[in-house]
Amino acid sequence: MTRSTPLRFPENFHWGAATAAHQVEGNNINNDWWAREHTPGSGIVEPSGDACDSYHRYREDMALLADAGLNTYRFSLEWSRIEPEAGFVSRAAIDHYRRMVTACHEFGLTPMVTLHHFTVPRWMDAIGGWRHPDAPDLFGRFTEIALPIVTDGVQWVCTINEPNIMAMIHGRRETDLVASGLPAPDEAISEVLRQAHVRSRSVLSSVPALRTGWSVATQAFAAEPGCEQAARAYGYPREDYFLEAARGDDWVCVQAYTRTFIGPDGPRPIPERTETTLTGWEYYPPALGIGVRNAWELTGGVPIFVTENGIATADDSRRIDYTRGALTGLHQAMADGVSVLGYLHWSALDNYEWGSYRPTFGLISWNRETFERTAKPSLGWLGQVARANEVPATPDLRVGVG
Ligand code: BGC
Repeated sequence: MTRSTPLRFPENFHWGAATAAHQVEGNNINNDWWAREHTPGSGIVEPSGDACDSYHRYREDMALLADAGLNTYRFSLEWSRIEPEAGFVSRAAIDHYRRMVTACHEFGLTPMVTLHHFTVPRWMDAIGGWRHPDAPDLFGRFTEIALPIVTDGVQWVCTINEPNIMAMIHGRRETDLVASGLPAPDEAISEVLRQAHVRSRSVLSSVPALRTGWSVATQAFAAEPGCEQAARAYGYPREDYFLEAARGDDWVCVQAYTRTFIGPDGPRPIPERTETTLTGWEYYPPALGIGVRNAWELTGGVPIFVTENGIATADDSRRIDYTRGALTGLHQAMADGVSVLGYLHWSALDNYEWGSYRPTFGLISWNRETFERTAKPSLGWLGQVARANEVPATPDLRVGVG
């Protein structure tokens, strides 16, 4: 599809990239994921190890994003570093994340802080994780502990990343997931996560400047003919419940990658000859526009921040095409009245994709021995979009490509 005019975005639109602590920091030895990675028979392909060593090299990461032209960086806190034992606080870890906030400002990046991105400390896992009746209070206490990180210089806080995915995978072994795809969510966990979000939000409300939300993995459920009711029933506990829970929040984070067809018996396999990515998902850029429209409708008009969108591919030109397509759908939704505050690409770096380094989502690659970073053409492309605040008309400028 060609376009003769550029797609202009609103003034002050946020353009950036996102990461999560366990996927980039390295050596998060005190959380449930690390334990799983080193448990024989867990089905994990490779452990996270040093990851991208971003715990030490975050300034390099930020510098690359800022130099390219991006203005926002989303990163997450590692609970197991900040509260390594129940109620025991590491001041040094808090200082570390404070330094990250300061560094963002130094580089001209607006920080967005995610309090929880999939991992819990081992002590929390040992008592049952999100199954423990005190889990919302424990997360509330963690939010209080983390307050010094976000009280100054932070506006955007995402409490919990993708509670809907967590409710689907909680307590299941990697091998079970490979065998059955994403299982039905555990609705008790969905409810505990909702309560944890509410507790955290109330702690954060003591800092007037903060704007708080949580992120939902939108999945663009598409009904096969005659299966509209089945698709609604399938989608409600996996997505809509979590969007409805965001009503009354300051904003909601939308994360979108692909679509899922729903037939009479649930999800359908991806048809043959359909382009798929390194995660085996359908290449489907319109997923983002569908996700933000669903979020807008179900939250009753809560402003949206796209906090993840991207593609696992070894062909960076497909990443650019995918992103261009996703931004086109996003722009159309905005033209139809959906309020969107920004777009953060997943991910800043090729990172640890929960069991393997093979699916590369990054705008930046890095050397596994020296950790040296290399910006990919897609980072240059997105940076140009950010600087111009518009997606160029096609054929595009191809800045930085080739
Ligand atoms: C998660 C990320 C993950 C990405 C790609 C999202 O579900 O928040 O941690 O890497 O999708 O699978």
